[in-house]
Amino acid sequence: MNSTKTWSGRFNEPVSELVKKYTGSIDFDKRLAQWDIQGSLAHAQMLCQAGVLSGEDLAAIERGMAEILAEIEAGRLQWSLDLEDVHMNIERRLTDKIGDAGKRLHTGRSRNDQVATDIRLWLRDQINIIQTLIQSLQTALLDLAEQHAETVMPGFTHLQVAQPVSFGHHMLAYVEMLGRDYERMADCRRRVNRMPLGAAALAGTTYPVRREVTAELLGFEQICQNSLDAVSDRDFAVEFTAAASLVMIHLSRLSEELILWMSPRFSFIDIADRFCTGSSIMPQKKNPDVPELVRGKSGRVIGHLIGLITLMKSQPLAYNKDNQEDKEPLFDTADTLIDTLRIYADMMRGVSVKPENMRAAVMQGFATATDLADYLVKKGMPFRDSHEVVARAVRHADEAGVDLSQLPLAVLQGFSSLISEDVYQVLTPEGSLNARNHLGGTSPEQVRFQTARWRRLLADAQAV
Ligand code: ARG
Repeated sequence: MNSTKTWSGRFNEPVSELVKKYTGSIDFDKRLAQWDIQGSLAHAQMLCQAGVLSGEDLAAIERGMAEILAEIEAGRLQWSLDLEDVHMNIERRLTDKIGDAGKRLHTGRSRNDQVATDIRLWLRDQINIIQTLIQSLQTALLDLAEQHAETVMPGFTHLQVAQPVSFGHHMLAYVEMLGRDYERMADCRRRVNRMPLGAAALAGTTYPVRREVTAELLGFEQICQNSLDAVSDRDFAVEFTAAASLVMIHLSRLSEELILWMSPRFSFIDIADRFCTGSSIMPQKKNPDVPELVRGKSGRVIGHLIGLITLMKSQPLAYNKDNQEDKEPLFDTADTLIDTLRIYADMMRGVSVKPENMRAAVMQGFATATDLADYLVKKGMPFRDSHEVVARAVRHADEAGVDLSQLPLAVLQGFSSLISEDVYQVLTPEGSLNARNHLGGTSPEQVRFQTARWRRLLADAQAV
């Protein structure tokens, strides 16, 4: 008989070493220890209030758990694969310390509701960290937006120069994306923050548990209302990974832009040396490793989303061991996202902008062609006709190797007699920016308005 297993009473032979390794989770779930203990303490308090556990037993459990926590923090607790997972390791250590009271802790509980609770408690804390980090990245982007409200760069569609935009406006686009990411995390957190404890293995328990007491102690906003669902639901894990994937996709898109902008072909920005590396063979190289890795790591997080959603497909109710596979993807998703957000805020503070090069690129792409068409419309020409007139002017300027704003008035008037001296106000990139002065537009005034709006929103969020 294998006496080390808590469940080994009905077995005639111990599991093989291979099976032990294959089914054990201690190597990765030991990081849940702190939350496992938090859940156990609340469970024990509730049992005591319900008259299931004596006051002495509760006191012993609290003392034992405090010692175990200290041992874990000091790296002194010996984790054992024989004890399978974090729950049984901690319970055994407790029993070694306090005897029968330790054995009574698992009354009215199963590892099934226990592990679901641990994961939710852990994830709730990770989401708190992520939300704060999203806001500090937004702040770093807002600093850039404010500094560069007036900096013109080419806005692209199809990666072809389209119309001038403010670099600040471009940064604000990412502030908006991250704002939605924050909302998604907050929304996901509401469904994470529900308590499975009390569901026990799957059907509830015969003890007079008071779930609202445990929920209150653990700060859960809601209690899972169906015991079968409580132990088998991992929707929250899928939702979190989906929300995390979107953050990573947003940062992957920004990374792609930083990489392009830093290449000498663009030369729009530079990234501080501490975020770049050199080449072992090419002495001239300075590579944007951090954004490249962010782009790469987005694939890894998306992979976890696919992994988790596939994990849940076809699982009959209620708990199945499949669910043990939720942890590594979840842990890695949170770790990757937290590291990425942290380094990104830092890196954006190390971005220096080259406004002259951005402006030169605007001047090479006929970026104000639409402005000229709009100018003609305002003088009475139908838009389709003005589009045609401007296309001819662009062809002429292209052949002459100059920007539209560099064509003499007489030449421009050759394309339409509606054109007069004031045309040069709309042909400059600055004129083009200023003309788009409406909510959501790229004018410096709007950029400053949006920056101030976001600063207020972030300050309010911090205040609550
Ligand atoms: N280590 C397990 C997990 O992560 C804990 C739950 C085990 N429950 C069970 N009935 N085998 O899911």
